[in-house]
Formats: sequence, structure tokens, C-alpha cells
Amino acid sequence: MIRCDNLVKIYKTADTEVLALQGLDITIEKGEFMAIIGSSGSGKTTFLNMIGGLDTPTAGKLFVDGKDIFKLSRKEIVEYKRKTVGFVWQNNARNLLPFLTAEENVMAPLMFSNDRKKRERAVELLSLVGLEHKRKEYPLKMSGGEQQRVAIATALANNPKILLADEPTGAVDVKTSERIFEVFRHINKEFGTTVVIVTHDMKLADKVNRVAAIRDGKISMEKLSSAYSKGLEGVADFTEVSILDRANRVQIPKDVLQKAGITGNRVEVSVKDGHVELAAPKTTK
Ligand SMILES: Nc1ncnc2c1ncn2[C@@H]1O[C@H](COP(=O)(O)OP(=O)(O)OP(=O)(O)O)[C@@H](O)[C@H]1O
Ligand SMILES: [Mg+2]
Repeated sequence: MIRCDNLVKIYKTADTEVLALQGLDITIEKGEFMAIIGSSGSGKTTFLNMIGGLDTPTAGKLFVDGKDIFKLSRKEIVEYKRKTVGFVWQNNARNLLPFLTAEENVMAPLMFSNDRKKRERAVELLSLVGLEHKRKEYPLKMSGGEQQRVAIATALANNPKILLADEPTGAVDVKTSERIFEVFRHINKEFGTTVVIVTHDMKLADKVNRVAAIRDGKISMEKLSSAYSKGLEGVADFTEVSILDRANRVQIPKDVLQKAGITGNRVEVSVKDGHVELAAPKTTK
């Protein structure tokens, strides 16, 4: 569904250049339910913006649903944003129009010709997120979690193939965030929508099918969701899938190296039974 090929993004300001993405490669299959994690400033929002058709890279390629996104015309991009992707923003205030009710917000992106159909669809989506009873309410009179759920309903209005959500549970309590996550899972299961969520919440990251971590604008490790929420502590045999870059380099997180007792900048590399092993050198000179 999504294939990123060596994406690079440099933000240029008056006197500085920020390398937000430095050669990001990732493939996301149709129907995947995945989480992107990474520290603040690692490039998560930049990455989602590219998939969402909101930003263009400095270099690299991005294919979504078979289309070469950065080759689309302006008109095609508008169409793409409407039909292929739904977006839930990191900043809640950006998701909803304050002068429209919940129902009107969900109706806004709909392309049906008549109001009755739009309203029906809006009610259907609001009940999907458990907020049918709040349809006449204005966003500012709703809680953060409720606003977020209306935002999800709005993002789903045109039945997109991909749902992107940037920290959708950043500002709500644990219970609400679990509820929001359930909505995502339901959408993924019921409609086969490919769901990509940026989150800081390791507990939630454990509930998806795959987690990819961005470090300094690169996908540095990916793993099937398993013992992640437990962190690396207490996991004796730590296995994860890392990505080899074009120069066959692999980035190994510091905590993993520490776990293996590798502290300096030298490692012993050996091949055993079809495995490549990295270990602290036996003798240090
Ligand atoms: N419009 C911009 N102009 C200049 N620099 C930018 C711009 N947008 C992002 N950056 C920089 O690019 C880097 C990546 O930013 P990005 O917003 O993608 O990070 P993030 O992983 O989403 O962080 P957070 O978890 O805080 O939301 C950061 O160093 C940021 O300061
Ligand atoms: Mg961000």
C-alpha cells in the first residue's frame, strides 16, 4: 500500500538546515495496522505528512496504492487527499471546525450530492466511534477524547484506504486512549483499512501488528509487536528485524548494544550456522 524509497527531507530556514528525514525506506502492506514510534523531532510527523500528500520531499520516492505520489498533478493530489487518505492531526484544534457541530464536521468532506445522504453517513460514522448522541454538539463542548473520536469519524468520511493518525491519544487518559485504539482496530478489521499511527505509548504500540521506530529520520528498527511494552529490560533473547541500508549498514540501538555488553566502538563479527553475530571483542588492545 505504501512504499517509501530513500526519502529525504531537509527543512531550510533563514540560517539553518534541518535534516528531518535522512533516507527513509519502509514498505507498509495493504491492511496493516502499524505504529510508528520515535523521540520528539525524529521525523514522524514529517513522514506522515508525505504519505498524506501534504508535503514533498527533498529527494526520494513514495508510492501509495500504486501511484507515484510526487508525480501527481495538483488536481490529482486533491483527489488523492480526499479519497485515498484520511488524516487525524497531532494538534487536536486542527482536526475540527469549531463553528460546526460534530455531525456537520463529519459531513464537511463528504462528496455526496444531497444533504440527507451526508447526514446519514455522518450519523453512521459517529455511531461507529460511539458518539451518535453527541452529533449536535460543538467541539469545544466535548472532551479531548470525544473530539479525537469525531476527528477519526471525519477522517473516515470518504472511506479512505489509509488512515493516518499522528499521536491520536497524546492528550487523553489511559481509558480514553484504549477506547480510541479500539476504534482504530475495529476500522482496520472491519474495512481492511491500512492504519498507521504515530504514538509515544508503548502499551498501545504493543497492540498493533507491527512497530517501526524512527531514529533521526530513519526507520532504524522494525519488529513484530511482542514484548515491546515490557521494554528491553527483562527480555533475555531480544530479536528484532532491522533494516540494512544501501551500504549494508545496520543501525543498532544503544540499549541493545548495552544488553550485549558492547561498550566501545569495536565489535567482533562472526558467522555461525547462518547467523551473523556481534559481540564485544574478547581481547581489547
Ligand atoms: N516546517 C518546518 N521547518 C523547519 N523545521 C521543521 C519543520 N517541521 C519540522 N521541522 C524539524 O524537522 C525535524 C522533524 O520534525 P517532526 O515534526 O517530523 O518530528 P516528530 O517526530 O513528529 O516530533 P514530535 O514527536 O515532537 O511530534 C525536527 O527537528 C523539526 O524541528
Ligand atoms: Mg510530530
